[in-house]
Amino acid sequence: MLQSTRKPAAKPFRSDETTDSGLPLTAAGLEERARQLMADGAYAFVAGGASAERTLRCNVEAFERYRIVPRIWHGAVDSGAPETAVTVLGTALAAPVLAAPIGMQELIFDGGELLVGAATADLGIGSVLSTCASSTIESVGPESGASWWFQLYWPADDDLARSLVERAERAGAKAIMVTADTPGIGWRPRALAAGGPSLLSGRGLANYLSDPVFRSRLAEPPESGEAAMQAAIELWEGIFGNHAVRPDHLKRLRGWTGLPIVVKGVLHPDDARAVVAAGASGVVVSNHGGRQIDGAVTALQALPRIVKAVGERADVLFDSGVRTGSDVIIALALGAKAVLYGRPWVYGLALAGRAGVAHAFRLLLEDLRITMGLVGAANVAEIAESVELVRAEP
Ligand code: FNR
Repeated sequence: MLQSTRKPAAKPFRSDETTDSGLPLTAAGLEERARQLMADGAYAFVAGGASAERTLRCNVEAFERYRIVPRIWHGAVDSGAPETAVTVLGTALAAPVLAAPIGMQELIFDGGELLVGAATADLGIGSVLSTCASSTIESVGPESGASWWFQLYWPADDDLARSLVERAERAGAKAIMVTADTPGIGWRPRALAAGGPSLLSGRGLANYLSDPVFRSRLAEPPESGEAAMQAAIELWEGIFGNHAVRPDHLKRLRGWTGLPIVVKGVLHPDDARAVVAAGASGVVVSNHGGRQIDGAVTALQALPRIVKAVGERADVLFDSGVRTGSDVIIALALGAKAVLYGRPWVYGLALAGRAGVAHAFRLLLEDLRITMGLVGAANVAEIAESVELVRAEP
């Protein structure tokens, strides 16, 4: 009798948990179900983009421009279970995926950031905690395992910036991701028309209100009454937007923390070169999910130029429009080291809290693992080395 010499798969693929959840099995399905169930203002806040939302739409459509050219009977995969683990900027991840930073999650689900930290930690993937989180750095950090990063909106107050960064490092963050495309919030008519939430309501300010430097700028503690809270919100309004940040600021940041620095929102190769020269060891090619500049280049279109400019000196990550395993493969084949996954898990959170977040990530990870096996990539590095893409015919 023939004996199989195959090793059993290290991580057998099981989709029962995913398929039995009763939740939709695609990112589009999650969005559709969430649209039906979420409050109008909250849905518009998540789904909407800037102005006419052209960039928002094009981010997803951009993936249609590339086609994977599959090989047959090819590659090193022999078990149907490719190795998806990677290390990005010193952070070990079970797959090249991190939860994108999403602010104000109390609007989506009570304690959202804590649940996202726990769900991603369970799956062994990364998460990025927003400056504008609804829970503090100190409460989310311990829930988030060993692979979380802190996202900094650089305020117009360097002492506060430094305090936020030091708090994140103390709480266990493994990198600081500075979002550079938001010197102010974009023009978002869909969210505005739906009476969407605003940070001016005081939501999403947990990290500011709990910060010793921020509090030292106030005459009274924000919790001492309505007028004191209003004063805190006004202080926040005065320091959130910051058009004065320049690449050289990263040198200050370098003096405040030993953690790797990543700049999110890079679309021009010259900017990528400038931030890497100033001390960033990673960049995230992103247009903020089409929420900032309508008509901005899609992140996928920008990706190859950025990889060419800095890919040998820095880790290039991709964000804005990732919805499927093939999207991850396309971004990695174009030179990204990992992707940020955004809106689909936010809809999962809205639908089923922590279980919904885990479900949304499993959809992506199972799709990725199966498709890697089918294209013959035994591990993540082989995607860049051997997956061939062609441009779709117009
Ligand atoms: C965001 N994004 C974001 N980015 C950031 O750096 N800090 C933040 O606080 C937020 N907050 C936020 C809230 C919501 C509701 C959304 C949808 C997005 C942008 C986010 O990190 C990411 O760039 C986009 O979500 C990527 O687009 P897709 O792939 O989700 O469409």
